Amino acid sequence: MRLNEEQKQILDGEKGKILQQAMIDLVNYGTAMGAEEFVPITSAHISFWGISKVARCFPPRCRELTEEDIADFKESISSVRVKPITTINPGLVDLEKWREMGSTEATYNAAMETVEVARKCGILSTFSCIPYLVGNSPTMGEHCSWCETSAIIYCNSILGARTNRESHETSLYSALLGITPKFGMHFDENRKGTHLIDVQCEIENLSDWGALGYFTGHKVGVGIPVFANLKRPIVEELMQLGAAINVPGSTAMYHIPGVTPEAPTIEAAFGTNTPKQTYVFDEAAKREVYEYLNYEPEGKVDLVFLGCPHATLYQIRDICRMIEGKRVAKGTRLWIMTSHSIRASADRLGYGQIIKDSGSELYVDGCLLMPFIYTPAKRPKMDRIATDSVKQAFSVRRSYGSKMFFGNTERCIEIAIKGGV
Ligand code: F3S
Repeated sequence: MRLNEEQKQILDGEKGKILQQAMIDLVNYGTAMGAEEFVPITSAHISFWGISKVARCFPPRCRELTEEDIADFKESISSVRVKPITTINPGLVDLEKWREMGSTEATYNAAMETVEVARKCGILSTFSCIPYLVGNSPTMGEHCSWCETSAIIYCNSILGARTNRESHETSLYSALLGITPKFGMHFDENRKGTHLIDVQCEIENLSDWGALGYFTGHKVGVGIPVFANLKRPIVEELMQLGAAINVPGSTAMYHIPGVTPEAPTIEAAFGTNTPKQTYVFDEAAKREVYEYLNYEPEGKVDLVFLGCPHATLYQIRDICRMIEGKRVAKGTRLWIMTSHSIRASADRLGYGQIIKDSGSELYVDGCLLMPFIYTPAKRPKMDRIATDSVKQAFSVRRSYGSKMFFGNTERCIEIAIKGGV
């Protein structure tokens, strides 16, 4: 890769060990991906929870870290400042209601340590997978380095900003250096459509958008789908679509003509590409996705989970309209996940109280999966779960072997009140 003078100095260690290692790894990564140079970035979205986990992005990598290694790393990284606006994906616990989530004091302390180090580095501890709604919203043409598949696809497809599918490590290195290797989604020619998805059925609610996403990801894999005959979506629908595409698929972008900034028309979405294949999403295809994701759904439900990706204020308002004046059934929990800034607004508007009165919980800063996989948190009973999110339906079943109901938000709330399907 061609490096400028400043980049060479960093590589030679003139700006300290942390930046040197970040540069070594980004150069190796860029070289492997065929990049010839770096491009400056204005935005990063990283995964930064647990200092010991972050420390593993840096040497020594070939052995377990000692407490001394971690203390040294903490001191070194605390003196570095990130270059672009940088936000963090969900962490392990709700930093206020960690006890209710079943988490331990040790996990809470580790999370608070992360917040403190992040603050010193200039990283915004948003702990949310919807960075574009909590202060990190680049505009068309800006180069970025984001991790989190559901956010990456939103960044490229809806904001018109440009990011590859970055990992925990590469997005952190890019945040520290303010650059990313220039390849893939940073070039116009790699952002054109490859497959056409012809929508021939009604898309009525959030779970239908998720079903369309699952179908699309399954068909196109790493391709870039272009949707035809799709009604104009709202933000929450786009969140479900993008998150679901990347459950079976691995794509950084889609085009909805008239919505995606670079695609005013289907012709513009494809550019000089000819669609490799056209797939029709009709009632039968939709039904097939629901049948696949509903795995022994009938019976008592332990947990109803909403807010994957994190719920917006608008979703919380709708949930409150459905649940106000009602109670969640004994033995069933209703958990809604969002960001702490959105919960603050929800509390101010009275939605927090409505949720509390119904016996539900509005949690923040985390994600249903992570605490129980990565920490000794006491897992709630999860034999059967109901959710309106494809990503959650798929991941929870795979991680915990839970039986699963997947359906629209209204039906999930009914299940929470009744206590089962
Ligand atoms: Fe967000 Fe966790 Fe879902 S990170 S997209 S709530 S799986």
